Amino acid sequence: MSVKKNILHILESNKGKTVSGQELADMLEVSRTAVWKAINSLKVEGYSIESTPNKGYSLAESSDVLSAEGIRLYLNEEFKSIPITVHKTIGSTNTEAKILAVQNAQHGTTIISEEQTKGRGRFGRDFFSPSDSGIYMSIILKPELNIENSVLITSAAAVVVCNAIEKFTSVSPKIKWVNDIFIDNKKICGILTEAVTNFESGMLDCVVVGIGINVKTKNEDFPMELQNKAGSIFIDDDSFIRNQLTAEIINNVLKISKKLENKDFMPAYKQRSMILRENILYKKNNNWHEGYASDIDDYGGLIVFTADGQKITLNSGEVSIKKK
Ligand code: BTN
Repeated sequence: MSVKKNILHILESNKGKTVSGQELADMLEVSRTAVWKAINSLKVEGYSIESTPNKGYSLAESSDVLSAEGIRLYLNEEFKSIPITVHKTIGSTNTEAKILAVQNAQHGTTIISEEQTKGRGRFGRDFFSPSDSGIYMSIILKPELNIENSVLITSAAAVVVCNAIEKFTSVSPKIKWVNDIFIDNKKICGILTEAVTNFESGMLDCVVVGIGINVKTKNEDFPMELQNKAGSIFIDDDSFIRNQLTAEIINNVLKISKKLENKDFMPAYKQRSMILRENILYKKNNNWHEGYASDIDDYGGLIVFTADGQKITLNSGEVSIKKK
């Protein structure tokens, strides 16, 4: 690890406390000048580090810059060494993850960015990904699964994200089938899962789970057309938990990906559903239809009673609650 990364690790582990320059230099066996240079470079990267003469350096309690070092601190022991890359800006973390997956990246490799310039959503839509206020992450999973079970990763990831948000806040997010997460009727997270198949064997090689969360994007910062639809986890107060939240999600996505076939998360998925036992509109063959959302099957399919009383199962697509 570079001097800068080591210093960041030490400061993140001692957030709010002052660590002396000499102590840092001794711990890392480098000169005081090397410490000073690394600190300056971290400041340029946006870290609020206070330097107090004759005392040392402290990373502000309110620092909320995403970093591999900051995230790794909160990872479970078994996942501590997964490859994590954090970008300042990128086109799309999913696109980058797919490139790495083809190059044989290991299970658990995670790509994160402070901003995406070409964030992608489902149905070929864009995903608005402004800088420094969200979490845009893609996790490469190499589950030993058949395609049938691997579709469950999206629903499982939705439950993981809801649980993680609930752990750090007092809100209880809801899931709109398949994988949109809502707080107070506003979408605060979308998940885009993409499969990477082996060109030669035609088999599923790995899955990229892309998660985009609006953590503290202000309403007026969303494009006009999203202002009534999109929200953030924190509306009023500023938070500084993005590294913890990211780690909590990685820990639990990796944990759950090992036992997807048990479908243990299904009761929680149903319990968080916004649309179960509601009259809905669903899109099929490019047309909207009315129906009643009756249940979710073991593979995440939505069981719907159509307006003419037929029972159908939707495996993907768009739904919305019918206005009363
Ligand atoms: C949706 O709401 O339709 C899904 C949005 C998924 C967005 C995430 S952000 C991280 C990852 N990279 C992308 O380009 N998309 C996903």
